[in-house]
Amino acid sequence: MTPRTLGVCYYPEHWPEEQWAEDAARMAETGITWVRIGEFAWSRIEPRPAQFDFDWLDRAIDVLGDAGLKVILGTPTATPPHWILDRHPDMLAVDAQGRPRKFGSRRHYCFSHRGYREECRRIVTLLAERYGKHPHVHAWQTDNEYGCHDTVVSYSSAARDAFRTWCAQKYQSAGALNRAWGNVFWSMEYDSIDDIDLPNLTVTEPNPAHVMAFRRFSSDQVRDFNRLQVEILRRHTDRPLIHNYMGRELAFDHFDTGADLDIASWDSYPIGFLSDRIEATAEHKSRFLRQGDPDMQAFHHDLYRAVGRGRWWVMEQQPGPVNWAPYNPAPLPGMARLWAWEAFAHGAECVSYFRWRQAPFAQEQQHAGLLRPDSAPAPALAEAAQVARELAEMPETGTAETPVALLFDYPSAWAWATQPQGADFDYFRLTFAAYRALRRAGLSVDIVNAADADLSAYRLILAPGLATLPGNVLRQLERYAGTALLGPRTNAKTPEMAIPVPLPPDLPGLDATVSLVESLPPSEAIPLTHGGAFRHWFEHFDGSATVTETTTDGRPAILSAGKLHYLAGWPDDDAFDRLVRTACAAEGIATEDLPDGLRIRDTATHRFWFNYAPDPVTVDGHTLPPAGVYWSAL
Ligand code: GAL
Repeated sequence: MTPRTLGVCYYPEHWPEEQWAEDAARMAETGITWVRIGEFAWSRIEPRPAQFDFDWLDRAIDVLGDAGLKVILGTPTATPPHWILDRHPDMLAVDAQGRPRKFGSRRHYCFSHRGYREECRRIVTLLAERYGKHPHVHAWQTDNEYGCHDTVVSYSSAARDAFRTWCAQKYQSAGALNRAWGNVFWSMEYDSIDDIDLPNLTVTEPNPAHVMAFRRFSSDQVRDFNRLQVEILRRHTDRPLIHNYMGRELAFDHFDTGADLDIASWDSYPIGFLSDRIEATAEHKSRFLRQGDPDMQAFHHDLYRAVGRGRWWVMEQQPGPVNWAPYNPAPLPGMARLWAWEAFAHGAECVSYFRWRQAPFAQEQQHAGLLRPDSAPAPALAEAAQVARELAEMPETGTAETPVALLFDYPSAWAWATQPQGADFDYFRLTFAAYRALRRAGLSVDIVNAADADLSAYRLILAPGLATLPGNVLRQLERYAGTALLGPRTNAKTPEMAIPVPLPPDLPGLDATVSLVESLPPSEAIPLTHGGAFRHWFEHFDGSATVTETTTDGRPAILSAGKLHYLAGWPDDDAFDRLVRTACAAEGIATEDLPDGLRIRDTATHRFWFNYAPDPVTVDGHTLPPAGVYWSAL
């Protein structure tokens, strides 16, 4: 078992060299093991074309390593210096309005640009040759946060050319592409694949099949861009290769990119995300203002555990107020500790705080670190030190096997983003609603990639909103012994974004056909007979399938074939809570009645409780204060 460790993100190039040794000593003293450096340092490594300065980086790595720290070296490809742009003026990504996304911040590149990929190949090769076997470099990070700042999709001429090549490989001929996309509609047929443009700036909406193909292509570009770096690094190092993914970033298939890497990591900013990345009532956002949403971190821990095939980290952990959300409150005292322990309870190998010292200059000067800009401790430093002491005292807890899985699928997110049919049909929102209900019932959850899910490991699976049910899931459902909750909108599209015939959901043993779908504004609810309601989405049915629950006006709400249940709409929280508890009861899976904001995660050896609520709760006869963590042996 890999030991649990703490890390920190550090930018030696931001500080006078005289300060490095003291910083390193303080990191080690705090109990930090890992230090990530270098991911934005290209202009200091190669200030001018082919003029290199590796000396400072050599010294920085030595100073950190000599203090006993393990270095994670980032490839600097998220921040190409200006001279690279001078060489490749057309390397910038282009937004949907056709405007270049200019130099002056970061991620100013198009994934498809051949010239930029060559620059990346060059700098990554040099770094890999120099540091691949360095005794202090123990892991590598590729680039930084693929997709951050909405950068997966680019409408540049480089992307257009690469998209044509991608289409030629996939469809082989314009005729086949026309048939696959249904281009006879509105006379959109192409004579040549070289006539195909990108699906932006059209008069009205472009063909959803065109958009979906472009989304698949864009995801592949991220995978290929990352793979280029991986292939170079593998030739020079046997250290683990990692990427730091984001929260609620669905524009590329992380399972696909992650398959080339050894460890998945993600950047967890709970308070920033509560304010700008999740749908919740004003009351919820106020209650969890200084703690973050009680399920958002856990969801991503479970998702990235799957992406990393069991090996995952938090590469960046929020330590205090951030700078980028609409409002930036400070965490409750104790949250920087709680977030770390929660990650470890979900199986993280490392939690690395972002960043060591708050920078007094540039874009993130209002972003807290473990130290203030004057090097005095910021509140999270003592919490990190506490976690380090606790880790040293507590035996490894391992990862629990859980009987409950949530199936997740990036292409479904693209399908519903392409054709939502109702303004608030959002795949993440639906999936997260299901996940939250599982967590409110005290369950530990595995999130699994729908495309290669092994259902036999679970007694209960939830698979909301899978646009195209992967063949392997369909086959396993035919003989699945557990309880499966599917729908709404399952199997509603072919991979080419057409309505399949036979009509959806076309599930084994379920004689039910969606005869009509409707989307609803947020104010509307369709109440269910046993409590709760459907919102946002509702499907009407034909067929002889058993109706196990109806709406209060008598229409089918849940259709069942044995233990396979199809939801005809989007359950609200009350309905989801009830469905989860009923399904668990049927499978003999124990659930809990948790006070609002208390969450549980089981490990192989211990049960952990996390109090996200702003008031104390009692667990096992113990009073858990706000931000309190409690564990006991199972
Ligand atoms: C992340 C990013 C970091 C830093 C941080 C601030 O998205 O990877 O470089 O910008 O956010 O919260």
